[in-house]
Amino acid sequence: MPLRLPPLAGLLALWLAGCDGPQSALQPAGQGAERIANVFWWMLGGAACVWLIMIGLAIQSIRTSAEGPAIRRTRLLIIGGGTLLPTIVLTTLLLYSLPLLPELLARPPEDALRIDVHGKMWWWRVSYPGEDHPGSDDELEAVELANEIRLPVGEPVEFRLTSDDVIHAFWIPSLGGKVDMFPGRQTRLTLHPTKTGTFRGACAEYCGDSHALMNFDVIVMARDEFNEWLAKQRAPARSPSTENARRGQQLFLQSGCPACHTVRGMAERSRIAPDLTHVGSRQTIGASILANDEGQFAHWIANVDDIKPGVRMPHFKMLPDDDIAAIAAFLEELQ
Ligand code: CUA
Repeated sequence: MPLRLPPLAGLLALWLAGCDGPQSALQPAGQGAERIANVFWWMLGGAACVWLIMIGLAIQSIRTSAEGPAIRRTRLLIIGGGTLLPTIVLTTLLLYSLPLLPELLARPPEDALRIDVHGKMWWWRVSYPGEDHPGSDDELEAVELANEIRLPVGEPVEFRLTSDDVIHAFWIPSLGGKVDMFPGRQTRLTLHPTKTGTFRGACAEYCGDSHALMNFDVIVMARDEFNEWLAKQRAPARSPSTENARRGQQLFLQSGCPACHTVRGMAERSRIAPDLTHVGSRQTIGASILANDEGQFAHWIANVDDIKPGVRMPHFKMLPDDDIAAIAAFLEELQ
């Protein structure tokens, strides 16, 4: 039975809705993504033209008799439509898209912001390098966070990408193209965000059990707000303010968490797992899986291996609920 119009319109709306949202390459918020989206629309237009012409020729061939004077016209159509036209259309589209490559691979100016990102199974270590302190010999503290990247709008930024285990691929569809991350090698990607907002990045290379649970949040902000945020991130962790959070801090330190996690100013022994110095200020937890609040944090600590299969962090189901809640309260205070 042929599809009636309302279901067809519904399907079309559903299909178009898939092009929407914070992870859409067709809603560009960066220079690279704008150019890539342009190429996509031109390619789509070219493909639609070729398709329509081919359908026209197919209908024409059904209606035309294979005998008589029409045969010459049909041969011309086959040569024109089947050989010449695709060659012209494909060459034009190729010539349009090729100049894009050097532009997308261009290096930013020397003073551009540089951010190191390490792909891990299955999260992202994000490092903002230290800086010279204006008017002092001291260096401003380097900042390390996980699964969240903040950028100033209207400025180029260079990502230096690598992996500590398997091949991952770094992709923020709203801002630009994707680049693979290899163990033992550094690749680079320059992006130039043009709009403020919250976007979503993802791993675009299958990398094991929780590949699909390896995402990150990208927040593009005005320069002033970005400076303010970065200055706060450079500061050491703040001390807990409530009795429950203080108990959580003690439990955190006694339960072995610092063997893997750093909290600058409290526990700085290990860089195996995400730096938690300001974990309470992040948008999400678990690589953009859960909302960042006390309830979800407690759920994460207790059931981490159910939430993210194959994760290296052990679960802490053996701790009483109120101990886990206290640890979650302590971590949420790390703003
Ligand atoms: Cu990392 Cu897929």
